[in-house]
Amino acid sequence: MTQTFLVTGAAGFIGSHSVEWLLAHNHRVVGVDNLRTGHLENLEVARSSPDFEWMLADVCDEAAMRELFKKHRFAGVLHLAALVSVPESFREPALNYQLNLAAADCIARLCLEFECKRLVFASSAAVYGAHAALPNQESAIPQPQSPYAAAKLAAEVMLLGYAASYGLETICLRYFNVYGSRQDPGSPYSGVLSIFTDRFQCGLPVTVYGDGEQTRDFISVRDVARANGEALTQMQVVADRYNVCTGRGISLNQVLAIYQELFPNAPSVEYAAPRIGDIRHSQGNPEKLHNILILKSQTPFEQGLRELVVGGLGR
Ligand SMILES: NC(=O)c1ccc[n+]([C@@H]2O[C@H](COP(=O)([O-])OP(=O)(O)OC[C@H]3O[C@@H](n4cnc5c(N)ncnc54)[C@H](O)[C@@H]3O)[C@@H](O)[C@H]2O)c1
Repeated sequence: MTQTFLVTGAAGFIGSHSVEWLLAHNHRVVGVDNLRTGHLENLEVARSSPDFEWMLADVCDEAAMRELFKKHRFAGVLHLAALVSVPESFREPALNYQLNLAAADCIARLCLEFECKRLVFASSAAVYGAHAALPNQESAIPQPQSPYAAAKLAAEVMLLGYAASYGLETICLRYFNVYGSRQDPGSPYSGVLSIFTDRFQCGLPVTVYGDGEQTRDFISVRDVARANGEALTQMQVVADRYNVCTGRGISLNQVLAIYQELFPNAPSVEYAAPRIGDIRHSQGNPEKLHNILILKSQTPFEQGLRELVVGGLGR
């Protein structure tokens, strides 16, 4: 039987890829977004499918969301809509609370009210903070260092509390550094690879803050979309928190070496003082989720980056 899933933040970077994964696996999808940071063009492929329904709405509008839950019997919800910029969460703590915590609570209560069994929540590696042992393990004591990370962790705790209290299957996925097409390079807080790709393609110099030896666990959005899809649809994934990462730490200097191969005439890289608050190393342990998913293979970083550069940011 075809099932219908709700995806919030559907017009965003991860949302649009996740919608496409679900449609490709013969599910029906209702995508909600208020286009705060997302773009309708990201849903061009999805909107050509008869199995996709688009709705421009704010997830904090409980009445509108209730109507949606009433209309569709959702088999599950993928909740991605969020205030996604860490610096913005410092400037706007009340909005951060609303978008990153209250909205998750609203969606979870609607799931309970309308007997939607499963809620997959977009959490973040940011919950670990700067001092957790590497690779980050889900069992580590989280030490959020921003309002953004604090709200993501609070939402995890609340949703897992609903799992224990009411049996709602809440699956909290802690994404590490996601890269791929449709990541908006326009904001200075965007993923570093979308900014690098944009600048190399325009022949502009890139600036690295620090010595470039800082590492990140970069994961392709294709693998994240698949993890989201499987977390929504595979019964063996049980309520808990899971890292979504590769387990491999790659330094910015290693990343730059690949770009320099692809753009041999690019201007030389500029190194600037490290930014306050930047984490030196980030690397997760992917085993917990890998042990239960069907598809374990992942996009190798070098391949994913080349595809991004060749295919372009907007595809
Ligand atoms: N990209 C990453 O590396 C990364 C890492 C960790 C966690 N995450 C989380 O993954 C999720 C998706 O992030 P993304 O990178 O795709 O960012 P994105 O900005 O592309 O997607 C977020 C989407 O949510 C929408 N949105 C925001 N507030 C909304 C609201 N009130 N109502 C309806 N829609 C709303 C935005 O318009 C946007 O389309 C977020 O929850 C983010 O915190 C992303």
